[in-house]
Formats: sequence, structure tokens, C-alpha cells
Amino acid sequence: MAVIAGNWKMHMASDQAIEFLAELDLSGVSERHEILLFPPEIYLAALATSEARNPRVQLGPQNIYWEDEGAFTGELSARMASEVGANFVLIGHSERRHVFGETDEEVAHKVRAAQRHGLVPVVCVGETLEERRANRVEEVILRQLNAVIDDLSLGRALIAYEPVWAIGTGETATPKDASLAHETLRERLSQSLGTERARSVAILYGGSVKPSNAGALLSTANVDGVLVGGASLDPRSFAEIAAAAL
Ligand code: PGA
Repeated sequence: MAVIAGNWKMHMASDQAIEFLAELDLSGVSERHEILLFPPEIYLAALATSEARNPRVQLGPQNIYWEDEGAFTGELSARMASEVGANFVLIGHSERRHVFGETDEEVAHKVRAAQRHGLVPVVCVGETLEERRANRVEEVILRQLNAVIDDLSLGRALIAYEPVWAIGTGETATPKDASLAHETLRERLSQSLGTERARSVAILYGGSVKPSNAGALLSTANVDGVLVGGASLDPRSFAEIAAAAL
């Protein structure tokens, strides 16, 4: 089973979002695979209830706040997202970490909030180019994973390895780079959760995934799926990526 996830970021008009669902043709995608979409939160309710939505497509917000309610202007709680039909949530995406200064500790709070409300967290980790050049890939991704590792035993969770230098740049990690990072993450998960449970935590690769490289990445050891940004905005290329999963 593979997980094919689309992160729309702050893109798409509301009518385009519904049109996307109507045009998304998953007939060439094995039923074994899970299809997730992370649209701008404001569209969640409309997408969740849209007749155009193939029930295989599950939804989630791109971020949440960890409190359930309160005086937190501009924030969205896990409970609210879950109430309007979300089943998953992206947490700690590199743009949250690097543009909005989100810390490992905040990421951990958010993971717990998601789990409290039955949302499956997709926790994103990944090194910057500077960190990669300084040979700090392992150190950085393990630090980010360690911040949430105790919480991962509480329910289903996914990890997305997204090297920051590969996001939106057209530069993709080679299957070998991805495989090494995923192996590092899997080993740490095994130490903490035991081999069997660790195997059940899907580790997705993200960063310039497109139809032309999806097949190679998805057949790489320890890569259990992909998190797609730019190429998830077009229903044809998103479906093509999903169809590349065997
Ligand atoms: P990209 O984005 O596919 O456009 O590189 C991936 C992501 O940020 O999740």
C-alpha cells in the first residue's frame, strides 16, 4: 500500500478546487493506495461534502493549532477540522518551520492535538541545503523525529521526509538520498516503537515529485508514498503520480 498526498499550499480558487475533484480520475490507481489532499482550510467543508469527491480522497488541513478553542485569532483547531470532515493533518511542513518559525516543541503539541481528535498527523521533517552541505542530515531529521516520537505510539501517524532544498525547486532527492534518510528514520522508529509498529508508520518522500520521477521514488526501499506540492494542483498529473504506485 502506498500513500499519495497532495499539498495545495495557498493555491487554487474555490471553484477550481471543486473542479479538481470532478476531474480527478483514479480509475488507473490501485484500490490499495490511499489518496490524501491538503487544500487551503477554508475549502475543507465544501470539498468534504462535494458530490464530486471520490470517496477514496481523504482530506486534511495544512496546519492546526493545539488548543481546542479560545482567543487565538486566525487559528484552526484539530476539533474544528475534524468536525468538517478532515481525517488527516499536515504538521511541521518546512514552510511552517522556516517561513513561520514553528519549533519542534510546537510541532509536538500539534501532533498530540491531532491525535486527541482522531486526525492522523503527517509529520514533516527535512534538512536545509546548508545542513546537507554540513553533513548534518541525520542529526537534523532525527532531532525533528525525536521531538514527536513518544507521541507516535498513541495512534496512527505518518512521516514525510522533505528535504527543504528539494521543495518547489525542481530538484529532487535521488532515490538513494531518499532511501538513506528513510532508513535512518525507520531505524529510529524501530528503536522506539518496535519493528512491527515502526513498519506500519508510512514514510513519504516529498520535494519536486512529478509524474516523471514518481515511479522511481515510489519503488525505492522504505519509501511508502509521496507528498506532492506543485504537481498536485493538476488533477491529471496528480492521478499520474498515484498511478505510478504499484
Ligand atoms: P513540491 O512541494 O512538490 O512543490 O516541491 C512539496 C511540499 O512542499 O510538500
